[in-house]
Amino acid sequence: MLEVLDLDVNFATKSGKKGAVTRAVNGVTLTLEKGNSLGLVGESGSGKTTVGRTVLGLNHVSAGKVMFDGERTRDKAGQFKPRFRSRAQMVFQDPHSALNPRMTILRSVSEPLILHTKLRGAKLRQRVCELLEIVGLQQQFLYRYPHELSGGQKQRVCIARAIALNPELLVLDEPTSALDVSVQAQILEFLKSIQKQLDLTYLFISHNLAVVRYVCNKTAVMYLGQIVEQGDTEEVFNNPQHPYTKALLAAVPLPKSGQPRRSTPLQGDIPSPVNLPKGCFFHTRCSEAIAGRCDNKPVQNTTLPDGRQVRCVLFEGDVSQARETAGLVDPV
Ligand SMILES: Nc1ncnc2c1ncn2[C@@H]1O[C@H](COP(=O)(O)OP(=O)(O)OP(=O)(O)O)[C@@H](O)[C@H]1O
Ligand code: SF4
Ligand SMILES: [Mg+2]
Repeated sequence: MLEVLDLDVNFATKSGKKGAVTRAVNGVTLTLEKGNSLGLVGESGSGKTTVGRTVLGLNHVSAGKVMFDGERTRDKAGQFKPRFRSRAQMVFQDPHSALNPRMTILRSVSEPLILHTKLRGAKLRQRVCELLEIVGLQQQFLYRYPHELSGGQKQRVCIARAIALNPELLVLDEPTSALDVSVQAQILEFLKSIQKQLDLTYLFISHNLAVVRYVCNKTAVMYLGQIVEQGDTEEVFNNPQHPYTKALLAAVPLPKSGQPRRSTPLQGDIPSPVNLPKGCFFHTRCSEAIAGRCDNKPVQNTTLPDGRQVRCVLFEGDVSQARETAGLVDPV
């Protein structure tokens, strides 16, 4: 359904050196099949939201392309094609700011229907009622304003608005991180149930690894605008291969103290996307970096026997062979 190919997104920086750019996304390639849920994880500033927004045409593309059902989403002039607007929708992190405080719920959910369909009057109201019912809200909410709803109810309204035009793809950008834990669980459960009911495909952005593991069958790990590992969720979580994925998972608190960690948690800060490191972007923080190699040569993507993609020299031909001979390779 969705293919992102060699996507670059650069932003002009407003301060600092003249002509400097923030390289938010650097050669991202992703594939998302119909009915699947792909989790996009990574630290703050790794470019997750930028990828999600670019897929929906809310950001410019600096290089590369986005394909939806085999067709480019932008025309030759780089404009997002209007017919894709209704086929893919976004749910934002913060439902409090995603809804206009001056609009009733009826008006907020009606907006996409008024823009993209001919529904008006009683039929429009009936469609809004149907949508509220799908998201588990009663008709009494129609004439309420956002401040009269709880956080979880507001996020349900945002989901109702996102599914109003029967989209095929939902980009969910941290849809539960602004909610308290019990409400998070309800919304996640609900998202899973409507995915089947409405035949939806999800691009699910989160830095909460447990949430991604629960919702997504595929996972892509992002670091400084690149995908460093992607594959089946259970494989990525049970047997991470990229040093960054290992470090991210090692940062998750363990339920029992004293349990051995599989890797060293992340040290230091993520470098600035204005001055990207040479070679592997992760070499400044990687406990397995090879001096003279990782800080020097660009890194290629390698496909592992289980179909997983990993961007790390440890899996490139010569280094991988040398490590295998030395008995340093974890089984995949
Ligand atoms: N419109 C913009 N103009 C300039 N820089 C931007 C813009 N949008 C994003 N960036 C920069 O691009 C980089 C990636 O940002 P992005 O919001 O995509 O990260 P993220 O992974 O979603 O982070 P978080 O987990 O904090 O939401 C950051 O350095 C950010 O400052
Ligand atoms: S390429 Fe080198 S620095 Fe980058 S993740 Fe692999 S081992 Fe670490
Ligand atoms: Mg974000």
